[in-house]
Amino acid sequence: MDKKVILSGVQSTGNLTLGNYLGAISNWKKMQEDYECYYMIANLHTLTIRNNPETLRNNTLNLLALYLSAGIDPKKSHIFIQSQVPEHAELTWVLNCYTYMGELSRMTQFKDKSAKHADNINSGLFTYPVLMAADILLYQADLVPVGEDQRQHLEITRDIAERFNNIYGQTFKLPEGYIPKVAARIMGLQEPTSKMSKSSSIPNDSVFLNDEPDVIMNKFKRAVTDSENVVRYDVENKPGISNLISIYGAITGKKNEEVEEEFAGKGYGDFKKKVAECVIEELKPLQSEYKSLIANPDYLKEIYVEGANKAEEKAAKTLKDVYDKIGLI
Ligand code: TYM
Repeated sequence: MDKKVILSGVQSTGNLTLGNYLGAISNWKKMQEDYECYYMIANLHTLTIRNNPETLRNNTLNLLALYLSAGIDPKKSHIFIQSQVPEHAELTWVLNCYTYMGELSRMTQFKDKSAKHADNINSGLFTYPVLMAADILLYQADLVPVGEDQRQHLEITRDIAERFNNIYGQTFKLPEGYIPKVAARIMGLQEPTSKMSKSSSIPNDSVFLNDEPDVIMNKFKRAVTDSENVVRYDVENKPGISNLISIYGAITGKKNEEVEEEFAGKGYGDFKKKVAECVIEELKPLQSEYKSLIANPDYLKEIYVEGANKAEEKAAKTLKDVYDKIGLI
């Protein structure tokens, strides 16, 4: 039987956070054995903000090196750069014509991002979820492993696919989200009521995958907690400590109660130090692998050329079917 298909991606906008890693990428690795996986570097999505071209090029290759160092194996998965498979942009145009202004204006990410970048609310930001739908639907993906913040984008993807299928007959598979039970929404260390984000302007709020060990330790030591001094999971009243429990649990595989038990009678100082240590240990092999990969651009190129070829084979089939069905010659 054919393996089920997975597609996911990350935007190539600078440093990745521990949230990106625990909420998404670390799960991708586990899926490589059992699924046909397509892991994409979403560089077209980054155009909704103004990038320096050289920085964007570097960020794209850095992200590729990060995928590899996080254990995504090019022998098992197809790793590719979105802009190298033109079908993504082509299907996006078609799907734009099957997506309503009303449904796009309900997207919370659009609302959040337009509030953040009030001086640059471009139409790309508005139709961003349509490009994401094209990414997913081109590959007939069964499952899309992402963090909680992408749930709404998956719902609109299904809505667009269903609408198209209803008019033209079965064309797109309806994808399911794969949102992890732990770590689907890692929060900022300074502002534990908002998600940890690549673009946070608050110092020490986000832990980046390439942070040095002493930087990671300091960020956790400074993490905002509460005055109770009891390690207990309670998102409502103790968002900071609950977030640290989630991080620790995601890395060690321990359940919330087990973490509570382990730190019963111990203060926040001990707990924070232990969380930092386990994050440092988790990232150590990734960071050293990353350094050697990034020094080898020829190898990275080999990977993304091969990945784009494989991805395009699949994407072209879907796009052809779509063009035939709607009458494009
Ligand atoms: P992006 O680049 O913002 O985030 C990449 C992945 O990381 C997850 N994530 C988090 N998970 C837990 N806690 C957090 N604080 C946290 N922050 C981010 C995101 O949910 C995501 O899984 N539009 C997408 C990229 C994309 C995509 C796709 C994803 C483009 N096309 C097709 C899946 C399928 C994005 O901006 O993710």
